[in-house]
Amino acid sequence: MTAHSSEHATTHRTHPHLPRRIVVLTGAGISAESGVRTFRDSDGLWENHRIEDVATPEAFERDATLVQNFYNARRAQLNDVHPNPAHRALASFEQQFPGEFLLVTQNVDDLHERAGSQHLLHMHGELKSARCSRTHNVYQQHTDITPDSRCPCCNTPTLRPHIVWFGEMPLFMDDIVQALEQCDLFLSIGTSGHVYPAAGFVEIASQAGAHTVEINLEPSRIKDNFAEHRYGKAGDVLPGYLQSLLDAQ
Ligand code: OAD
Repeated sequence: MTAHSSEHATTHRTHPHLPRRIVVLTGAGISAESGVRTFRDSDGLWENHRIEDVATPEAFERDATLVQNFYNARRAQLNDVHPNPAHRALASFEQQFPGEFLLVTQNVDDLHERAGSQHLLHMHGELKSARCSRTHNVYQQHTDITPDSRCPCCNTPTLRPHIVWFGEMPLFMDDIVQALEQCDLFLSIGTSGHVYPAAGFVEIASQAGAHTVEINLEPSRIKDNFAEHRYGKAGDVLPGYLQSLLDAQ
């Protein structure tokens, strides 16, 4: 994973043909209305924390407790937040859509699954999982990881958050690229387009001939790569947009 607004013009362009294979990419913006902080907005997580201090393998080697505490706090916060209308609209759309549907999220919260999404890949990992640094086995993790926490496989304190840090390879990339190359509609929701490879998905989809739509609070860094744009809060824009796709089926 690597890190890298103009007028808010919403462009509505009719989809050239009815979509049969849809890939959706979500980012922190879709969870903002649930009260989960984004990364790069003015009150975002990277305002208070340097990425190099909490989101790299080197940071974990240097100060494991600091890194664990950062993710422990975010894991604990999941107990206080709930899916919002945008998460629910995606889950309900997936149930009704007769074609193929894949939801890829950069988010490490569990709000999509709690809303009922089924075909879901967490490309940047999950707060509610921990991984053994030695065997790479992944375990459910609902409480804090402390210096006393031991992994079930080696019974040593080698658990780390199951989170993709900067400099590490995102998860499920082969499956995701294959789905992008076969989709005819790609939706990007609530992501600023600063972090690759996710920010490059729109180009893979458009090269494969897909229609591409950005749904975001404001134009993203990569807005020019999308054919269609809808600006506003995901919870306001997404339910109506997805219903219009179903109505066209
Ligand atoms: P960012 O914080 O970079 O961007 C969030 C985007 O959501 C911004 O473009 C906002 O304008 C938009 N936004 C905010 N509220 C919104 C709302 N209610 N409705 C719609 N859009 C809204 O978050 P990401 O793009 O997801 O990686 O960041 C990508 C990755 O960078 C994250 O997965 C994270 C981070 O480093 C890891 O930690 C592994």
